[in-house]
Amino acid sequence: METKALRELLSQMSLKEKIGQLLQLTGNFFEEGGEITGPMQDMNLTEDDLWLTGSILGTVGAEKLRKIQETFMEKHPHHIPLLFMADVINGYRTIFPIPLAQGSSFDPAVSRTGASVAAAESAAVGLHVTFSPMVDLVRDARWGRVMESTGEDVYLNRQFARAQVEGYQGKDLSAPGKVAACVKHFAGYGAPLAGRDYNAVELSPRTFRDDYLPAYKEAVDAGAALVMTSFNTLDRVPSTGNKTLMRDILRDEMGFDGVLISDWGAVEELVRHRIAETRKEAARLSMEAGVDIEMMTPCYSSCLEELISEGTVAESLLDEAVLRILELKNKLGLFENPFKDGSAEAENTVVLSKEHLEAAQNAAEQTFVLLKNDDAFLPLCKKDKLALIGPHGDNPLIYGAWSIFASPKDTVTLRQGMEQAGASFRYAKGSPMLDNLRGLEMFKEQLPFEQDLEQKDALLQEALEAAKAADKVVLALGEFNQQSGEAASRGDITLPRCQLDLLREVSKVNENVAVVLFTGRPLDIREVLPYAKSILCVWQPGTMGGPAIARTLFGDNNPSGKLSMSFPWSVGQVPITYAQFPTGRSFDGESKEKYVSKYLDIPNKPLFPFGFGLSYTTFSVSPVTLSGDTLEKDGSLQASVTVKNTGDREGQEVVQLYVRDEYGSVTRPVREMKGFRKVTLQPGEEAEVTFTLTEKELRFTTINGEKATEPGAMTLWIGTSSETDNSAAFVIK
Ligand code: BGC
Repeated sequence: METKALRELLSQMSLKEKIGQLLQLTGNFFEEGGEITGPMQDMNLTEDDLWLTGSILGTVGAEKLRKIQETFMEKHPHHIPLLFMADVINGYRTIFPIPLAQGSSFDPAVSRTGASVAAAESAAVGLHVTFSPMVDLVRDARWGRVMESTGEDVYLNRQFARAQVEGYQGKDLSAPGKVAACVKHFAGYGAPLAGRDYNAVELSPRTFRDDYLPAYKEAVDAGAALVMTSFNTLDRVPSTGNKTLMRDILRDEMGFDGVLISDWGAVEELVRHRIAETRKEAARLSMEAGVDIEMMTPCYSSCLEELISEGTVAESLLDEAVLRILELKNKLGLFENPFKDGSAEAENTVVLSKEHLEAAQNAAEQTFVLLKNDDAFLPLCKKDKLALIGPHGDNPLIYGAWSIFASPKDTVTLRQGMEQAGASFRYAKGSPMLDNLRGLEMFKEQLPFEQDLEQKDALLQEALEAAKAADKVVLALGEFNQQSGEAASRGDITLPRCQLDLLREVSKVNENVAVVLFTGRPLDIREVLPYAKSILCVWQPGTMGGPAIARTLFGDNNPSGKLSMSFPWSVGQVPITYAQFPTGRSFDGESKEKYVSKYLDIPNKPLFPFGFGLSYTTFSVSPVTLSGDTLEKDGSLQASVTVKNTGDREGQEVVQLYVRDEYGSVTRPVREMKGFRKVTLQPGEEAEVTFTLTEKELRFTTINGEKATEPGAMTLWIGTSSETDNSAAFVIK
């Protein structure tokens, strides 16, 4: 449809019809036999309001959505199609590794592929919009939602934000297999105080601009069609009612012209935040902030008509919002084809297709981080006498808490993966997954918790038998998948006691233990380290986790992941990042001085830093050569190293570039990543890796509030983790 026709349609719509476009409900309101009376009353909605709704969320299935759309469009006075949205994060049914793991691949192509597979499956089941990517910067491992982010680094997050948007949307939203991306959660949601979900966020304006905004900006520049507001306050204003944030920063400064949607219930939560006394005031604030769609609360639907008729809210604000929603429907081609790609046939052929499963397995293999590997304990040999022990050994729930459409029966577990690889081994569960179900009671159906607790001793005995009879033990430990994700903050980020007991007991009878660590967040694994010869962090690897891990354990895949988020020494260090700031009393790790910036009882350094990860082979990196020693305004500089595979098997290394601005008008991070490249090398092979560093990339918010560089000395490092000391110097003119 031409924009002119859209405007004409808008001009024909009544106030009520326009307000309807702003309402988003769950699908059960529209499903035949759906339980609507109660919820409708709760939301103050009439049957008439229902047939004016603009979008629905969380319902999937090609046939179901086709029926809903057909009935709806018949009843709608202008036959305007509904938008169907859902949370498809790391996959619809073919589940890729969680985003935090994807970040650890240091290969944005992994996320681009993941997003395009997710888009293809979503489109096939009738969806038009996914509530992804989440590009919130995360530095606090207590926060459960770190699993949905690609990690702690500004530069890394930007690359992955762009890749995901491109993967979901392609170049044309109406093209087959594409869905609209919704960037979330604007803004700063990844920094809740004390790591507690939904808590207030306190960021200095400069930190917000230089560290938190860039990934959202990159996603917007990549063309993301929607943005979602965040639950948190920023500078003491909840985002959903924050006009400065949404209009001045997001729309005017960042140039976002798509649809802004509230997070679930966030418009009405302005009342709970106590910046609005009533739903009506919440509606006014959100409208003024430019929130187009209200997810799941009825402030707009019940108060906007009055606000407009009494002249408190200009009707032009409503018109702008409706036009943006109609434009999105139009870009998706829904006026011509309201079902888009959704069809039963597509659903059968596309979802869980062989290609998708292969892509998920390849992705998983890129994301594993080898944290420890004493005496080249890994890889294992299939002929070794092995035991696979641990509550994650045969656990299908290894796809992360946000895989809401996934089915455990689609997962290939580690046990199955090792069987398929042709290994013979004894399997024993060994221990319950958790010590208790505190806060997770609603997931008890998914976990035979009580039964395992009753049989705790028997499980251990069986495991010890298996361990005694084996030469080597693979111990599959980690977090239950619901221990991370939304509303899953943790104050203690160690492994459950029962799993640590299992590790200790097993290692008493067999000290040849490799730990495979499943997790949705960085953990404090100090208690694991002394008992494990090897530790392979596999995150929540997704549907094809089992075969991917098996191939890695047996050396068919050489681990190449690097930590996208530091593993802290203990929870006392968080939030932590390698990109710290100098202080007036920085601590070198050695000095015995008291009045320096350190803890009395724990080190400053994390257990494993950002960018760290081992391989089954070894690499050398030559000293850095620079194309010149000065960088001019708008200019660039080339920095090169030669990387060599010095071991005896093929491997991939992630070459990382960091810089430090030695002196600035404001303090500058001790290091910041400004480039990375993953290279594949055969034994003995070497490759030159050249980065082009631009002056533009080095700009920051100066004391005057401009985005600029300042003349002076810079240090640059190129190496294989954020702690590399392979440096060179140059000057910014
Ligand atoms: C989450 C969002 C999600 C939305 C819809 C909220 O609770 O914060 O990330 O997209 O629900 O399911």
